[in-house]
Amino acid sequence: MKKQTLGAVTILTGDSRTVLGSLDAESIQCCVTSPPYWGLRDYDHPHQIGAEASPEQYVENLVAVFREVRRVLRNDGTVWLNVGDGYARNGGVGSCGPNAKVGNTKKLIQKRNCKVPEVWGLKDRDLLGMPWRVAFAMQADGWILRSRIVWIKKTAMPESVKNRPTNATEEVFLFAKQPNYYYDCQGVREDSGANLRNYWRLGPDASGNGHPAAFPRELAKRCILLATRPGDTVLDPFGGSGTTGAVAQDEDRKAVLVELNAAYNDLAKKRLKDNQTKLKFT
Ligand SMILES: C[S@@+](CC[C@H](N)C(=O)[O-])C[C@H]1O[C@@H](n2cnc3c(N)ncnc32)[C@H](O)[C@@H]1O
Repeated sequence: MKKQTLGAVTILTGDSRTVLGSLDAESIQCCVTSPPYWGLRDYDHPHQIGAEASPEQYVENLVAVFREVRRVLRNDGTVWLNVGDGYARNGGVGSCGPNAKVGNTKKLIQKRNCKVPEVWGLKDRDLLGMPWRVAFAMQADGWILRSRIVWIKKTAMPESVKNRPTNATEEVFLFAKQPNYYYDCQGVREDSGANLRNYWRLGPDASGNGHPAAFPRELAKRCILLATRPGDTVLDPFGGSGTTGAVAQDEDRKAVLVELNAAYNDLAKKRLKDNQTKLKFT
């Protein structure tokens, strides 16, 4: 495992399922993350999560990662999990679902030109309901599911569908380890001053950062301001281009990022260095 530290952000290269074992128990105040969505993109690594042969295996892998997250989380800590959905497809290489060519990556991650297996309990073109499958499995594994936030995308990915509305939302789940957890309801308010609602109209960020699936800075910022105090440590076990780390820097928090693909960590390193320099001079 390669470890690099940039100011208050530590970047670990490796598989979250093993790397998280090297972190101290109860050392993290909150986890803000977005794992690969099942069957959507190729992150170019044999151990990537998201390329499993079935929805069940994907859910099991995520539950295993978050079990380790629970160990490293402080008892009053929280997890903010952004996860997207997809469709079951029978054959073909359409523009959505397990066989799709999507986004910036040209490779298919699952070349299953076959029938959706009976064991999945799904039919061709069924919405997978993946975010809720993950949420229910996490609940069953001991997490307290406290909120489902709907991220409404200001600019949705175009879809050529004519038989259903275009998808323009994703879920962000808030999980707690225990009933009494740290949550600063003053950290982010509605413009009117009211308590923050569970629908957030956000992003994408103006400047692409070279990662095909970065989430908006504002999404990470809201989670971090609601769930941590200055000086606390934030974890992202699927670090990507380091959005969580950059926002932690901005907000005077520490961060630990874990990412499997070393190329994305190089991207994150450069981004965090630039961000640090910018912060120093503004
Ligand atoms: C949706 S992206 C995260 C993007 C990130 N939120 C950002 O803003 O840049 C998911 C990331 O998880 C990484 N990944 C996939 N499997 C992993 C694993 N087993 N351990 C750690 N990282 C993994 C992928 O390489 C990818 O960069």
